[in-house]
Amino acid sequence: MKTIIINGGKKLRGEVAISGAKNAALPIIAAGLLCEGEHRLTNVPHLADVVTLGKILQNMGVRYDFKGNDVVLDSTNLASPEAPYDLVRTMRASVLVLGPLVARMGKARVSLPGGCAIGARPINLHLMGLEKLGATVEIEHGYVVARAKRLRGAHIYFDIVTVTGTENLMMAAALAEGETILENAAREPEVVDLADALTQMGANIEGAGTDIIKIKGVEKLRPMTYAVMPDRIETGTFIISAAITGGSVTIRNCEPKHLDALLSKVTEAGADITIGDGALRVAGRRKIRPVNIKTLPHPGFPTDMQAQFMSLMALAEGTSVINETIFENRFTHVAELRRMGADIQVEGRSAIVKGVRRLSGAPVMATDLRASASLILAGLAAEGQTVVSRIYHLDRGYENIEQKLSALGADIKRV
Ligand code: EPZ
Repeated sequence: MKTIIINGGKKLRGEVAISGAKNAALPIIAAGLLCEGEHRLTNVPHLADVVTLGKILQNMGVRYDFKGNDVVLDSTNLASPEAPYDLVRTMRASVLVLGPLVARMGKARVSLPGGCAIGARPINLHLMGLEKLGATVEIEHGYVVARAKRLRGAHIYFDIVTVTGTENLMMAAALAEGETILENAAREPEVVDLADALTQMGANIEGAGTDIIKIKGVEKLRPMTYAVMPDRIETGTFIISAAITGGSVTIRNCEPKHLDALLSKVTEAGADITIGDGALRVAGRRKIRPVNIKTLPHPGFPTDMQAQFMSLMALAEGTSVINETIFENRFTHVAELRRMGADIQVEGRSAIVKGVRRLSGAPVMATDLRASASLILAGLAAEGQTVVSRIYHLDRGYENIEQKLSALGADIKRV
């Protein structure tokens, strides 16, 4: 079992370049199913999840070449519109092939993703939307089986904001007959990135980035050549790495405007942030101030930064309250942070974090992708050695994180 070993206490200094966004690359790759021809994607992060999605597409007869950070995919010979359980259960975002397959092939058989460490994460809204667009949807032996002659535009209202639900239905609606309105749609930058890619393919989409998205279906789409946006959660993770170690780090290839909520909270916690063109500089201070956060759909504070921010608050001079409103079980990192000396009480969906003067390194276990990042961050600041196990969680969402951190002066290695 691979582990990451960190000897904490080093102030991080220097420059880091951010990779492409996992949560934009995944839906944009799925959009390659919507038409024949060769799609060329660049700035694709080389991550386990992107490799897994490639396997799922290859299973369907798609040509998929992933070299470095470039993906070339061609779904001309798309044969079987199936996504098997053994692959889907390792990467629930595979549900993103559902909309494109029904739109392109008129049918799809995709395994239900099953549960996940951070919550039940049902896909009922994805299925509701497909039915509204005229598909018949059945659950058979753990699979979603969806069929439609031709999808027809509809008015779809999401009672809960869902990122991949919005993305799935935006892709399905791109080839539906007539106009589709997605109301209470997700406003995440990754949704906008997908809309930009679909527009490049010839789709007719208005309002991406707002809560009302209008899609006028077209007969056919054409292959895209597209560069994936920078990963805002990786950016946020490196912002915290500078703040928590009291270092000063310049972050390049990032998009600061995707992170308003995080930037305002990290500034409130005492870090100095200067915004440049596609870059930002973070200087941590010795004194970390306590700050309350509540996770919300974009443009609110991102749930994917909650665990990382909690590590920073564990060393604040005072008490902060962290309220997780998106997922019902996203505090699995708390028990591990406690092993490092953090003083955190969980009350339902809130965590009360009493800052301590120092954390001490310890053997800890990653439980999900962002929890593993929070343990790495705590290890960077802790006294002594931290050994993080089950780091396959980390590799799902961060490209070369230990190389990037050691280039900033961290004493970190993968064993
Ligand atoms: C996306 O997941 C991201 N993943 C998640 O990032 C992120 O945490 C999440 O959005 C919220 O921002 C990708 O984009 C691949 P949701 P998604 O549908 O789309 C409920 C990471 O660390 N819901 O917006 O699955 C759901 O249970 C990952 O990179 C329904 O009830 O999240 C949750 O409580 C983790 N029914 C809430 O909505 C549905 O049909 C938000 O979920 C769909 C969702």
